[in-house]
Amino acid sequence: MEVIRVEGGHSVSGTVTVEGAKNSALKLMAATILAPGVTTLQNVPNISDVHIMGKVLKELGATVEVVDEHTLRIDTSTVDSWETPYSLVAQMRASTAVLGPLLARFGKAIVAMPGGCNIGARKIDMHILGLQALGVVFDMDHGDIHASAPQGLVGATVTLDFASVGATENLIMASVHAKGVTVIDNAAREPEIVDLANMLNEMGANIQGAGSPVIEIHGVGELHPVTHAVVGDRIEAGTFVAVGGLVGEPVTVRGFDPEHLGLVLRKYKQMGINIQLGEREVTVSRSGPLVPVDIQTLPFPGFPTDMQAQTMCLLAVANGACVVTENVFENRFMFASELQRMGSDIVIQGHHAVVHGVPALSGAEVRSPDLRGGAALVMAGLVADGITTVSDIYHIDRGYERFVEKLRALGAHVGRVTIPDIGLEGL
Ligand code: UD1
Repeated sequence: MEVIRVEGGHSVSGTVTVEGAKNSALKLMAATILAPGVTTLQNVPNISDVHIMGKVLKELGATVEVVDEHTLRIDTSTVDSWETPYSLVAQMRASTAVLGPLLARFGKAIVAMPGGCNIGARKIDMHILGLQALGVVFDMDHGDIHASAPQGLVGATVTLDFASVGATENLIMASVHAKGVTVIDNAAREPEIVDLANMLNEMGANIQGAGSPVIEIHGVGELHPVTHAVVGDRIEAGTFVAVGGLVGEPVTVRGFDPEHLGLVLRKYKQMGINIQLGEREVTVSRSGPLVPVDIQTLPFPGFPTDMQAQTMCLLAVANGACVVTENVFENRFMFASELQRMGSDIVIQGHHAVVHGVPALSGAEVRSPDLRGGAALVMAGLVADGITTVSDIYHIDRGYERFVEKLRALGAHVGRVTIPDIGLEGL
């Protein structure tokens, strides 16, 4: 069993460069289905979720060539299947991003229904309701979604109940060829959605308003392949900003647009962290104690749920108490119970966590509950007394490229080690 071992109390400082955004790269890969031919994606992170999306595309008949560590050449001219099996969707829920592109290209798709996951039920009812408004008919068969558009896709106005990232993306991709105009009202505004719309427009689509709550898609004919670079990962950047804020010594994070972390940086400033903005970088440091600040997660431009665990890690050692409210996913406080094992004082009440800062954390054996929670536990280990061992690190590998190496380059005493798996789970 491979674990991440962290020795706390060492200096962590320097410059780190982030990769392209996981949440954008996965959707851009799915979107290549819409432009038959060879699309080149640059700045693609080398992480396991991207490898799974590569398998999904291959399963559909595409060729995925790895040009170099961060460049993929995807030939979708050979895509001749519209079925995505459960074995892949079960590994990564974002595989459902092929639903929209397959419907647009073939007028039909079979996608296995994603199961629940660690951070909640993660339903896809809004994807389905929106696509139905465009003329898609759904049939559920043994956990597979059979979707077809017998009369073709026809533009309509869809008002989402909640600004869902996945539903907004699937609707954009499904409607690029739809007859007439599609309007998505209460659309998600995340930078990754803007990146998707930008690439589709480069391919010849006509999408207006991405980044605002109302997106308008005018149906067009064939799209053509392009070369496109994935937007920088604001969440990977935010994680290293949090590392700098936690340890206190200057950390410069490069390779992303600091505006994409707007509210996070404002909150961190209130927490007593010095923030110096550069053009595509930010430098953080801290000389005084961490100040507790209430946080509530919301869709962009609100505080990202994907930064909640890393931020709770800072608040756990702040000088006082505060409340963290999770509004986007149910069941996203599992990280907090692991952090308790390191001596934090956090009480969960429904979707609120009351965090009383403690003077210090202590090293412990903890288990990564999900992607961001796993990264946050490694962070906690950096300032804890003694040794912290984080298991189930495959979660971290899903979304962070060379996380341990990047921390080591900043001076952290951290490494991946293989320890015997004594198999207690089976008892
Ligand atoms: C994406 C991101 C994830 C991020 C999240 C919110 C990817 C691969 N993942 O996930 O990292 O945390 O946005 O910023 O891009 N919901 C429904 N019905 C639906 C769709 C969503 O009830 O049809 C609910 C979900 O269960 C969740 C909330 O809406 O509680 C937000 O989900 P959504 O914005 O769709 O997140 P994802 O696209 O799954």
